[in-house]
Amino acid sequence: MPKITYIAFDGVEHAVDVPVGWSVMEGAKKNNVPGIDADCGGGCSCATCHVFVEPDWRARTGERNPIEDATLEFAENVVPNSRLACQIKVTDNLDGLVVRMPESQR
Ligand code: FES
Repeated sequence: MPKITYIAFDGVEHAVDVPVGWSVMEGAKKNNVPGIDADCGGGCSCATCHVFVEPDWRARTGERNPIEDATLEFAENVVPNSRLACQIKVTDNLDGLVVRMPESQR
């Protein structure tokens, strides 16, 4: 099962196993990882699942979709490697993925 490491803004790391087919957001919520509220439940409309994908992983997670781009306009500190965790589907190829949470989701 792919292991994903979520790093909170304060540097605390949570490494959890996330089943293939879940989203990166679901992996956080179902493992009680703090910092990802996911208020809309994965509907790509709240931006409370904002994460920064570590640069080495961007090619494997893919790029933002247009709806994700529009929703991220409501988030703070959006950078090129910003993604909404609910829009990243977990695959075996993402084993070892590292994402960081922004200050606004402390
Ligand atoms: Fe709301 Fe991802 S959970 S945008």
